[in-house]
Amino acid sequence: PLVPLKPVLDAARRHGYAQGAFNVNAVCQAKAAIEVHEMFRSPVILQGADLANAFMGGRADFANGTVEDKIRGAKNIGDAVKLYGEHSPVPVVLHLDHGRDMESVKAAIAGGYTSVMIDGSSLPFEENKELTREVVKYAHAHGVSVEGELGVLAGVEDHVFAASSTYTNPLSAVEFVRDTGVDALAISYGTMHGASKGKNVKLRREIPIAIRECLAHEELDCALVSHGSSTVPQYIVREINELGGQIGEAHGIPVAELLEAIPAGINKINVDTDIRLAVTRNMRELFEREPELKESSLAGVWQLLDEKREQFDPRAFLPPVYDLVMYGTVADEAQEKLVAAI
Ligand code: G3H
Ligand code: 13P
Ligand code: NA
Ligand code: ZN
Repeated sequence: PLVPLKPVLDAARRHGYAQGAFNVNAVCQAKAAIEVHEMFRSPVILQGADLANAFMGGRADFANGTVEDKIRGAKNIGDAVKLYGEHSPVPVVLHLDHGRDMESVKAAIAGGYTSVMIDGSSLPFEENKELTREVVKYAHAHGVSVEGELGVLAGVEDHVFAASSTYTNPLSAVEFVRDTGVDALAISYGTMHGASKGKNVKLRREIPIAIRECLAHEELDCALVSHGSSTVPQYIVREINELGGQIGEAHGIPVAELLEAIPAGINKINVDTDIRLAVTRNMRELFEREPELKESSLAGVWQLLDEKREQFDPRAFLPPVYDLVMYGTVADEAQEKLVAAI
């Protein structure tokens, strides 16, 4: 069944585990992700970022997506998740990742998202609180969960809790959760978005520990979320480059660090970059294995792969097969193979 985020994270907190939350950028990824979770008998958290909704709404220059693009994209992925998730034996959450404003939130909910993130972390504290509170009011009235964010990811490693700190301050977190009513809170404790996180990152697990204790002391009910948590497997980077890609130094969060973050109070772990890398690898592998596909209905995709060798965002390669990205519409056998790869 489709469910909001809160009950899934409540169970994770009760039993002390974390849920992976995986980003999708094409509707056909929903079916595969749900099937894999069913194999593990695990709840599913799929997330589409604000830009992903614009892309799945048919916008190749997704950074410039309009509200109409986002509504169309949210409905496309929302319909796919409903189709494959509604009758699934495992709970399925469709979560908006890094929603930027009220319009994006409304677009996602209109399309069938069961959970939304509002990312006001770049705003001054009071404005972040105000925007988040407004989103909570709207979302909860629609039975939709809300994740907020406090603190800025990455950067200054040695100024914990100083005025200039980018890490999440536990006392501010208490005030934020109390005043907004969010169900989940993304915190900054040493992770970073993207594939350039640096070698041997150490996470500040004392930060989630302190936040969790401060929240418990005030009897506040809120799960903590770890963004920027891709592990960037070196073998995938190597394989991409062996298959014609040109990706430079790329590093993720060591798995051991993530495993220690869970008992420190992290219950949702966001992964996007690793999926982008794997999809890029798979697509390059497909054309290597079956070069005749370069002359098929996938010719445009191949051309982009061949041109953009340093790129590993699949959205850079997929516009030539937009019907497939948006609606999962497969035109021929070549496109069926692409679906298997992404
Ligand atoms: O946290 C950011 C996610 O990786 C989403 O990225 O905004 O490019 O879709 P995006
Ligand atoms: P990565 O870039 O580490 O995959 O982080 C993804 C994320 O935080 C999505 O919100
Ligand atoms: Na999120
Ligand atoms: Zn994120």
